[in-house]
Amino acid sequence: MGNRLESHMAGQLTITPAKKIHGEVFIPGDKSISHRALMFAGLAKGSSRIRGFLNGSDCLATLQLIKQLGIQVSEVSATEIILQSPGFFAEPIDILDCQNSGTTIRLFSGLLSGQSFFSVLTGSEQIRRRPMARVIQPLQRMGAHIHGRKSDSLAPIAISPIATLMGVDHQLDVASAQIKSCLLLAGLFADGETSIAEPGPARDHTERMLKAMGAPIKIADNCVSIHRPNHNLQSIDVIVPGDISSAAFLIVAASIIENSHIVLKNVGINPTRDGIIKALQQMGASITLHHIREESGEPVADIEVQYAPLTAITVDTNLVIRMIDELPILAVAATQAKGTTVIKDAAELKVKETNRIDTTVQELRKMGARIEATDDGFIVEGPTKLKGAILDSHGDHRLAMMAVIAGLYASNSTHVLNADVIKDSFPGFTDCLRLLGAMINEN
Ligand code: S3P
Repeated sequence: MGNRLESHMAGQLTITPAKKIHGEVFIPGDKSISHRALMFAGLAKGSSRIRGFLNGSDCLATLQLIKQLGIQVSEVSATEIILQSPGFFAEPIDILDCQNSGTTIRLFSGLLSGQSFFSVLTGSEQIRRRPMARVIQPLQRMGAHIHGRKSDSLAPIAISPIATLMGVDHQLDVASAQIKSCLLLAGLFADGETSIAEPGPARDHTERMLKAMGAPIKIADNCVSIHRPNHNLQSIDVIVPGDISSAAFLIVAASIIENSHIVLKNVGINPTRDGIIKALQQMGASITLHHIREESGEPVADIEVQYAPLTAITVDTNLVIRMIDELPILAVAATQAKGTTVIKDAAELKVKETNRIDTTVQELRKMGARIEATDDGFIVEGPTKLKGAILDSHGDHRLAMMAVIAGLYASNSTHVLNADVIKDSFPGFTDCLRLLGAMINEN
């Protein structure tokens, strides 16, 4: 089998409980890698090619910014892009709209801080509520002329021209790939060394790709440093692997719905992202990796998942950062695991697209789940048979997909409201589930 997926998505979904899910599918491209490939190719002189690009709304926002910054883009297909760059950006003639994409606004804050032109970054109402002091303040320490609304804490963000930034040693108090990447990108335009020490290993796609493009980057344990290159970055030909954060929804579905057996082809298994596989395996899930290989500097595998009874665990703190986006769907798995599952040290969930501690608890409780919010995570008792309910995405793509998977497991139909946001990261999600035998109506 193995079908590439195209997408369209309605605002409301009705999910019929599934007896099993079964089959083999490709997962759309990794969101983090797609963003980075576009941005870094924009800085590399010459022609770069990206295949397996994620054509979700978040990455399409980055694509639009790249065009506004003067890079020539040819969209060969929905998932293949060729960029032609002079090796630098041009001043945009309008504001830059990052829509719902946190990665777009935070990484571009760093990239644009080192430019000799004026720019303004903004986004949706959701993005304008998310914290930006975490990038604005360290960039100001590097000498950037960057300011934001509410005393430099929120978007819109305005950046004025600067001759050059100064390299600075940064000590992050949260493990965040968005902050780390923002500062590394600013470091490409700084005098001297920019170093970033992080409390834990946040995803390292920026480091891998910049290194492959010839940037002077040094990677040590929990500390990465960079210098301004004395030549243009080399152009790239990237094949983006499937997004493990998207695969996670199907992995959990197959793990909790009896008789399920699926294979997810060509999924990224970068060790800074594989916490969901490790945590589920510790719970007793049947997950096997096949054909492990490396593609464009990233480890990739086909993931086979079969239904297996789950047992509760206390999720290891070291795994939390490696699965920060997967914690809502792990909570669904935990509702079916025997015993008490504890997820802690995950306070970052409060500043994602929604406060994912509150929204996960609120929505899963509507189905009868025994889940409590804590200051930095959840406590879940299982197993609990979930009942169909009317759930809301709160405008958060991962909450919408969590609700759909819980609905597939539930005893009667579930309605998911405001589900169109799924396209932010997983266009073709419902088509993919239908290929695996699920019944989902769009109305
Ligand atoms: C991302 C990093 C993560 C993640 C987000 C994508 C990235 O955020 O939640 O979906 O592409 O760098 P933080 O690094 O802020 O935790």
